[in-house]
Amino acid sequence: MTTADTVTIPVGGPTLPQERRLVTGIPGPRSQQILDRKSTAVAAGVSHSAPIAAVAAGGGVIVDADGNSLIDLGSGIAVTGVGNAHPKVVAAVQQQVAQFTHTCFMISPYESYIAVAEALNRLTPGDFAKKSALFNSGAEAVENAVKIARKHTGRQAVVAFDHGYHGRTNLTMALTAKSMPYKSGFGPFAGEIYRAPMSYPFRDGLSGQDAAARALTQIEKQVGVENLAALIIEPIQGEGGFIVPADGFLPALADWCRANGVVFIADEVQTGFARTGAMFASELFGIEPDLITTAKGIAGGLPLAAVTGRAEIMDAAHPGGLGGTYGGNPIACAAALAAIDAFENEGLAQRAARIGEILLGRLREMAAADPRIGDVRGRGAMVAAEFIDPATGAPDAVLTATVARECMAQGVVVLTCGTFGNVVRFLPPLSIGDELLNEGLGVVAASLAAH
Ligand SMILES: Cc1ncc(COP(=O)(O)O)c(C=O)c1O
Repeated sequence: MTTADTVTIPVGGPTLPQERRLVTGIPGPRSQQILDRKSTAVAAGVSHSAPIAAVAAGGGVIVDADGNSLIDLGSGIAVTGVGNAHPKVVAAVQQQVAQFTHTCFMISPYESYIAVAEALNRLTPGDFAKKSALFNSGAEAVENAVKIARKHTGRQAVVAFDHGYHGRTNLTMALTAKSMPYKSGFGPFAGEIYRAPMSYPFRDGLSGQDAAARALTQIEKQVGVENLAALIIEPIQGEGGFIVPADGFLPALADWCRANGVVFIADEVQTGFARTGAMFASELFGIEPDLITTAKGIAGGLPLAAVTGRAEIMDAAHPGGLGGTYGGNPIACAAALAAIDAFENEGLAQRAARIGEILLGRLREMAAADPRIGDVRGRGAMVAAEFIDPATGAPDAVLTATVARECMAQGVVVLTCGTFGNVVRFLPPLSIGDELLNEGLGVVAASLAAH
């Protein structure tokens, strides 16, 4: 037994003291010991950004093996929207795990899977008949949305966008734009994937209509609508830099898809489930996608994902063509039903909107005082600051990494993103309190001012 094995694990969930508390440097000795074991035992490709070993989390904090309590502004990459170890999720999981852990839905179906599908069909935008299928991860949901769109249309080509991120499996690597670290050396990639220019108002200055015309002309000329099964896009791009498209861009794409028999897929894996201040970001842009992929926030931290969409498209795949051993696992479904209950009945979309006001307000103040923040953007509890060289507008990835590292050292977990690595993104759990959020942002401001 190492010292790390003997650490007393505090009770997680919202009962954890909501405070930033540093009792050692970051990482402390116990975390360091565990991270040393990680380097020996875990493949190098599985990297980590916060140099701590977590032992408990809840509300707006993560507690590490040394007893440090860090402010969580990342939610495990937009997963713990309802908060870590939310009491409803914990109770549902405990009850289900004692009941049965697995039958395989493709062998002996169970009600909770069906109830999750019903909830998704009801909650996703669009007043039309919908169906859902459940999977394990965001990438798997995206893979299946593409399969369904191809079967429905009898066409093969799929268009994804500059700065897009859709996962790390073979097909989703092809859909993902950024080479390093997601694709480099891992090819050959799946065929019939094409890329179109995104609307990126801070960098292209185009209106939504003009950006859509640019993308659609390129698609018509380089792919040909008769070959195109689907267009897949994140309504607000996540890993690519929290890029919010100009008004009118998404509706123009969706209208064009409808007119041309192309399946419009909104990848809401990161934006879904109240994160942006609406249950789904598509609502903010007035679009009703044919298919929506979801994961991350859906089940309070349990692995679950879904494709939801127009019933006639979802039914295109023949029996046995969709599924998987674990897809819609009963424990994950129980967690999802509890999380969805929390999203619907605990005002979490409103809470995300309030968090967004705080984030945007504080970051805009920082930007007004510091020209190295070139842009502040986002919706709800999905907000980012893009760091630039003020003289040239060039992305400043070094400053971004320095600020993130300094925040970690000061007990605030912040994440970075962006094609150019120059975006600090804020994705706090919706269970974080205003005071803690403001304290975390104060640390970000101080870290920026110090460099
Ligand atoms: C928009 C989007 N799609 C797909 C994925 C892949 O999800 P997963 O990591 O669960 O496979 C992600 C993950 O970050 C994502 O942000």
